Amino acid sequence: MCGIVGYCGPKRVVPVLLESLRRLEYRGYDSAGIVYLENGKLVKHRAKGKLAKLEAIIGDAIIADSHIGLGHTRWATHGAPTTENAHPHSDCTGELVVVHNGIIENYHSLRDELKTKGHTFTSETDTEVLAHLIEEYLENDLVAAVKKAVKRLEGSFAAGILWAKQPDTLIAVRNQSPLVLGVSDDLGTFLASDIPALLPYTRDVIFLEDMEMAVVTATEHRIYSLETDTEIDREVQKIDWNASMSEKAGYRHFMLKEIYEQPQAITNTVSGRIDLEHGTVNLPEINLSNADLKKIDRIVIVACGTSWHAALVAKYWIEKYAGISVEVDIASEFRYRRLLLNEHSLTIAVSQSGETADTLAGIRSAKKLGSKILTICNVVGSTMTREADGTIYTHAGPEIGVASTKAFISQLAALLLLTLYLGQEKKTLPPGEIRSLGKSLIDSAGMVEDILPRLQEEIKELIEPFYDARDFLFVGRGLNFPIALEGALKLKEISYIHAEGYASGEFKHGPLALIDRNMPVVALVPKDAVYQKSISNVEEIKARQGRLILIGTAGDDSLSSLTDNIIYLPEVDEIINPIIYTLPAQLLSYEIATRRGCDVDQPRNLAKCVTVE
Ligand code: F6R
Repeated sequence: MCGIVGYCGPKRVVPVLLESLRRLEYRGYDSAGIVYLENGKLVKHRAKGKLAKLEAIIGDAIIADSHIGLGHTRWATHGAPTTENAHPHSDCTGELVVVHNGIIENYHSLRDELKTKGHTFTSETDTEVLAHLIEEYLENDLVAAVKKAVKRLEGSFAAGILWAKQPDTLIAVRNQSPLVLGVSDDLGTFLASDIPALLPYTRDVIFLEDMEMAVVTATEHRIYSLETDTEIDREVQKIDWNASMSEKAGYRHFMLKEIYEQPQAITNTVSGRIDLEHGTVNLPEINLSNADLKKIDRIVIVACGTSWHAALVAKYWIEKYAGISVEVDIASEFRYRRLLLNEHSLTIAVSQSGETADTLAGIRSAKKLGSKILTICNVVGSTMTREADGTIYTHAGPEIGVASTKAFISQLAALLLLTLYLGQEKKTLPPGEIRSLGKSLIDSAGMVEDILPRLQEEIKELIEPFYDARDFLFVGRGLNFPIALEGALKLKEISYIHAEGYASGEFKHGPLALIDRNMPVVALVPKDAVYQKSISNVEEIKARQGRLILIGTAGDDSLSSLTDNIIYLPEVDEIINPIIYTLPAQLLSYEIATRRGCDVDQPRNLAKCVTVE
């Protein structure tokens, strides 16, 4: 996955490109580059490494008198992360440049064909074929050449194109990789892979759809279908995020800021959707009529990574409170299986970005079989939301840290809302129970707010003897089993410590063999319906001298006979436990990772949004 940006307008282009790239760096950061047009010539700057490396070599170019250009931040898929492979890529003349996000799957054959025709390649990337392919078709009409070239591509692409001989125009094309235009009467026209790049300049945006092309100047934008060759009239949408929502606001890392934004994320997600007076939940946006809901006898939830963990929690909730059978699937597995779905099934995609390739492919397959599709998503207008029958937006605001935190909490809130809604419509939950569970959800925001500062201080101290451990295990039961998985994922992705999550009851079926006096084990042991069982599992770990960290309910003094390392959380309605128990898991990972000097916002090898398989 990569980030692309483009600008044409009255502002000097270089600072605009760099600022926008900074906001997309979560999409990839192994190299970066920009190109702009100055005195009729294209000027390129590229650097291996993070954006700071590019900024360091820009020098006086920052004040270049140029008002049109493109930028790119790369996460390598084809070709090593080197300066030569950094975008923008040029054609043979050096007069045409391309930035690209996605994978051109047939690039080998196109490259061979273009080489036979005399084109010279200077990188190992798939992207460079697009520059040469356009060159091959280019006479005087750039739009016509781009159309011809793009029709030959297989795979996914979002690309920006600039030709020195058409100095006022940028071209953008999209298929299966996100691309959005930003428009402003005063500031010109912008192009970006994601909305945060546009926020300092405009909140008026236009999302491109698959196989569409935009031709933009500082004052105009036209959108065409690449399939029908017709012009499309697309409405401008107003985004209700602002620029400061994607800044660090005094926090050391985006991840920490986003952890502290979780109370707001819960509130934003639930507000206006629960009517406590009548004990009802309002979700018209799911677009399922009573007749549709009556038909549904099975729910399948598909997701990846952290979003998959949220889906696992939802299984417990929906089955218990709405009485509907739920299967949860990892999207990369789901998409290649024989799917036994039909019009009686509801397929739910849970995705922060709404662009994850496997999840998107999963819902496309389910749709073909007649299943209704619902998305739980954070990014307004993203591909999944456009393809689903309905969307519950999580309204967590932009999430920049690669490790998902507030998006996860708001997914839990949205999935709990959905549970209550399904219980209401299926008449398995009376209004009184919806009111009380709904109130617990609403109140959880304030509780999270109260807990966080104290928890962070406690955890900072607690991790001191543990931060240099080689391995970590997390265990939990019931609703807290997915949270154990999430704790392990957070820790491994940002601290590079090997960590695994297990269902407590499963532990004795193998993993118990790992326990010795060096193995830290984080056990989630709230006073819930399975408390006694969880404690028995913890005893087994203690008996083998595992280094226990217990996370339990305030007032549960019996925990102190098991270890001195205890984090107490307030007693809450059991349904809210996954929200509250996620907090120590997130902060434990954050504090350990920062103690180890890791770059928590941009962990190695990872990108925020995985738009390739
Ligand atoms: C982990 C993390 C990833 C994402 C996964 C799915 O912290 O962020 O595991 O949850 O890549 O992404 P979305 O939710 O955008 O589909």
